[in-house]
Amino acid sequence: MPERIGTTVTKHIVGMQRGFPEASGDFSALMNELVVAGKVIHRAVTKAGLVDVIGKTGETNIQGEEVQKLDDFANIIMIQKMDHTGLLCAMASEEIDDIIEIADKHPQGGKYTLAFDPLDGSSNIEANVSIGTIFSVHRKISDAPKGTLEDFLQIGRKQVAAGYIIYGSSTMLVYTAGQGVHGFTLDPSIGEFILSHPNIRTPKKGKIYSVNEGNSHKWDKRVNDIINYFKTDDEATGRPYSSRYIGSLVADFHRNLLYGGIFMYPGDAKNPNGKLRLLYEASPLAYICEQAGGGAISDGENILDIVPTELHQRVPLFIGSRDDVEICKRFLADGK
Ligand code: AHG
Ligand code: MN
Ligand code: MN
Repeated sequence: MPERIGTTVTKHIVGMQRGFPEASGDFSALMNELVVAGKVIHRAVTKAGLVDVIGKTGETNIQGEEVQKLDDFANIIMIQKMDHTGLLCAMASEEIDDIIEIADKHPQGGKYTLAFDPLDGSSNIEANVSIGTIFSVHRKISDAPKGTLEDFLQIGRKQVAAGYIIYGSSTMLVYTAGQGVHGFTLDPSIGEFILSHPNIRTPKKGKIYSVNEGNSHKWDKRVNDIINYFKTDDEATGRPYSSRYIGSLVADFHRNLLYGGIFMYPGDAKNPNGKLRLLYEASPLAYICEQAGGGAISDGENILDIVPTELHQRVPLFIGSRDDVEICKRFLADGK
């Protein structure tokens, strides 16, 4: 008997679409194109040590960070894979200052926007540490023929879908379209993402805290109190928590999603809004986390309710198990 192949992501997306008889199929088509982009980036990432894609390009991006060749490569793949589908009205990328228009030579009239971090955790590339691609999809709201900034500055709660592809010990796609969170593992032998983690639920309370503690001297008292709380010994509440920090948001988030825990990138004296970007890091992961039973806040406010004002806006982020986010929220409010 041949081995039975599990549910492919394509089949899963089509199955989900059946629940919406009025759906045009555009959203499924968009997701399927994203899956292909993810596979191409996976191929590049897994061969990174062999071909000339490791290292820096010599340029700095809008965030003032050095651009790695793979950042650039992943960015180009995303744009080239998605720009001619006729499904998008515009795109936004961490690596590009302004919104990316769909060129006139490509089909116009797409009803979705796509914001993405083409490669997250890129400072880890050369050390063979997990990295990822994060994406966020909204419906176009402006009347303009092409997408405008207004189409991107929508609250996270209005996302149509959000997800990430993590290039780790295996490559996985995790996404939500508002009906739970589903995880698929790439089977490289057939080149398909296979459903491996249906309906992911994150533990209500975790045992892990994840934060760059080297920044502690810049944190205000509230944030220091939070971290001290998680480190304090108290058997009744399962403390101290373990500290785990990779420095790739996708990887830290993914681990905590499965095991339970809290990831924090707070604002500090130097960077009051922290480091992470609202539209293509915090917001998509917040949507996934909420759909999995967890939560996400900035300096107390639900990430999904923040009205964005800028494309590359940064935001403090506390994300993970629901009870742990509530603890952060209390400390943040009490110290104000
Ligand atoms: P990116 O590689 O897309 O620029 O993102 C890097 C981010 C994120 O992945 C991670 O959580 C954070 O930077 C780590 O920052 P620190 O090195 O300041 O801890
Ligand atoms: Mn990133
Ligand atoms: Mn990036």
